[in-house]
Amino acid sequence: MTIPTDEEVIVLTGANEGIGYHLLTALAEEDRLIAALDVAGDNVLDARDDVTARVRYYECDVTDADDVTTAVNDIVERWGRIDVVVNNAGVARAGFFESQPMAETRREFEVNFFGYQRLIRAVLPHMRAQGSGLIHNMCSGTADTGHPGLSGYSATKGAVKAFVRSLRLELRGTGVTCTLMIPPSTNTGMTADIDYPEWMTVEPEEVGRKLADKIHSTRPVITPDLTTRVGLALTRWFPSIWRRMTAGIVGNSE
Ligand SMILES: NC(=O)c1ccc[n+]([C@@H]2O[C@H](COP(=O)([O-])OP(=O)(O)OC[C@H]3O[C@@H](n4cnc5c(N)ncnc54)[C@H](OP(=O)(O)O)[C@@H]3O)[C@@H](O)[C@H]2O)c1
Repeated sequence: MTIPTDEEVIVLTGANEGIGYHLLTALAEEDRLIAALDVAGDNVLDARDDVTARVRYYECDVTDADDVTTAVNDIVERWGRIDVVVNNAGVARAGFFESQPMAETRREFEVNFFGYQRLIRAVLPHMRAQGSGLIHNMCSGTADTGHPGLSGYSATKGAVKAFVRSLRLELRGTGVTCTLMIPPSTNTGMTADIDYPEWMTVEPEEVGRKLADKIHSTRPVITPDLTTRVGLALTRWFPSIWRRMTAGIVGNSE
């Protein structure tokens, strides 16, 4: 039975680790209900009691359309609405292009690109019916700059960027919109195989907290802070900076 809630309902994928986990714990501090989707839920379920009270864990592989629609249908049946979605689940396999099996790149696209599309397809009819909704999509500066040893991952983020910009235009006037959220290089499991110098990465707790503060932003591109925004602009406008920053990484990722 549906009991429509007055509280805001947020759906977050990849909520069990990294940026997603810290976004979850920061978001759960306010009066809102959160559906936390991930392939594993140990950290979500172990979070502080005052956090888990507002959070419902869904075991959901975003590469599986049935998992995604089952979760979304249950959320709508239970809470009667979905206000905000954060497409955050992601994978990255480090290694130079010539050593990457095609299957690994396909896997990256299944999670990072088609996974986003699956969830958007499932939530859009509900958001259109509500006449409101906000869909954030984690992107990356690598969509513009590329990244040695992450060619497949960077390609997925380039695809996300072009897709979200197109969808945003299609959704004009509906009350529903979508954005790109761009974190800086962050010290998570995803970057564990990449030998970034310490100064180049930020802790996921800081990134999650700052992005949670911007959860209602409808700007086309959302960054956690000005430092990230300026860093992204500099590496995009001056490729030689990015070339120098990643010179060591090229050697280490081989
Ligand atoms: N870290 C960075 O430097 C950085 C920079 C820019 C953008 N981003 C983006 O930020 C987002 C979060 O990255 P992160 O660094 O926090 O990564 P992370 O620590 O590896 O967390 C990613 C989460 O997504 C989950 N996940 C993976 N495949 C999934 C699937 N098929 N279905 C559902 N959940 C799945 C992971 O579960 P398992 O751990 O069980 O696989 C994990 O909980 C990603 O979209 C990433 O591309 C990260």
